[in-house]
Amino acid sequence: MSALIERLEKEYAEKHPGSKHLYERALRCFASGVTHDARYARPFPIYMVKADGTRKWDVDGNDYVDYVMGHGALLFGYNDERLTAVLEDVLAYVHMGSCTELEIEWAEMVKKLVPCARDGLVRACACGGEAIEMATRLARIYTGRDRVVIHENCYHGKWELINIGHSGPPYGLCNVRGIPKAVRDLVTIVPYNKPELLRRVFAEGDVACIIFQGNAPYTRDYIREVRELTTEYGVVFILDEVVSGFRYAAGGAQEYYGVTPDIAVLGKIVGGGAPIGAVCGSREIMKYHEFRDGDDYWNRFVRIRVGGTWNAQPLSIRAGLEAMRIIDRERDEIYPRLYEICDKLTGFIEDAAETSGIEASAAGVPPERPMVSIRPRFGSGASPLAHYVYYLSLTNSGVNPFGGFRFIPCVKYTEEDLKRTEEAIRRAFDNLREGNLVPPKKP
Ligand SMILES: Cc1ncc(COP(=O)(O)O)c(C=O)c1O
Repeated sequence: MSALIERLEKEYAEKHPGSKHLYERALRCFASGVTHDARYARPFPIYMVKADGTRKWDVDGNDYVDYVMGHGALLFGYNDERLTAVLEDVLAYVHMGSCTELEIEWAEMVKKLVPCARDGLVRACACGGEAIEMATRLARIYTGRDRVVIHENCYHGKWELINIGHSGPPYGLCNVRGIPKAVRDLVTIVPYNKPELLRRVFAEGDVACIIFQGNAPYTRDYIREVRELTTEYGVVFILDEVVSGFRYAAGGAQEYYGVTPDIAVLGKIVGGGAPIGAVCGSREIMKYHEFRDGDDYWNRFVRIRVGGTWNAQPLSIRAGLEAMRIIDRERDEIYPRLYEICDKLTGFIEDAAETSGIEASAAGVPPERPMVSIRPRFGSGASPLAHYVYYLSLTNSGVNPFGGFRFIPCVKYTEEDLKRTEEAIRRAFDNLREGNLVPPKKP
């Protein structure tokens, strides 16, 4: 172990004795001590006790500028008073398991903001991954076909079918234990930005849908070509807007790119920070949820019969409605501010790479001007320990990145937050140079 890592780990341990102690307890409760893969961290994760605005506080009293933002669910930071106030209104009646006017107002707002829902229908569920599963089933009934096309390295949640494309290379082989071969055989994994290859896959027939991750590094031309190809081959175009929704624009990636899918899957922000997923889009496809009075055949053999204890429970619906109302009202301030913040984060990484003289650049999505998932990309030949040193350095400097690495922003950062972030990145890059963990910048 290098002297650099020893020094950083020592500082980490000294600053976080309470977290270390909790981790030892957690190891007796959870596999590797965590309940989400992205929260796994070496030497141990940091245990938080509260959050407010752009900051989080850990059990040892350290504060952090936060870039996790509830896994991207919080566009307005923690404890936004407009959202917490409406949550108090509904606390007393969670969860009635009944229809409410609130759910109609929520769906009307989805229809107002999300282009593919405008003339279509909406359905709420418990989380984004569940919504992906529902959308896939709808596509299969609508087309009468079974095959699902996904992209390399896509993440759409933990449902077995779509999990197959996430880990690799080689994609389709990593992280597939426990997923039956019969399921894997119904999935085709394609790379992004290769429309000619997609045409070949579609031409083979039997493709029910393509699931497209809104927040992935594809080109503007590719998403347009996918729209054209899906129309040509009668394949349902499912756009996963769990992350890109309400972030790329008020109407998500579909508004940003001007490409309307058949079905969009929503999550995160559409629940205002409370658990949610949703499917919305074409009435012709969504109709397979409808009851038909007097049509026994339809009701028994065609329609999808499913429940969902948490569908449209008032906490998520009320908070999501409020989040969408704010977005609708303040979109002219929200998105320019988000760009301003993200441009700064990108600039901090690029500038730190320049001054520390290491081969690194900033990446994120959308690729042309990142608004989500901003992170450093180290040059080839970087040590596998580079990410670890980056994480330790940021954490020791009071910055909390998502999954140890990425920045998922909100719109509330102050100049002080950003200054701390800039200094933390600079310190991290200086450490990377000191440890020779990333190759020097090419002249
Ligand atoms: C693009 C994308 N789709 C789907 C999901 C799954 O959403 P959930 O975790 O709410 O099931 C996620 C989760 O982060 C995601 O990033």
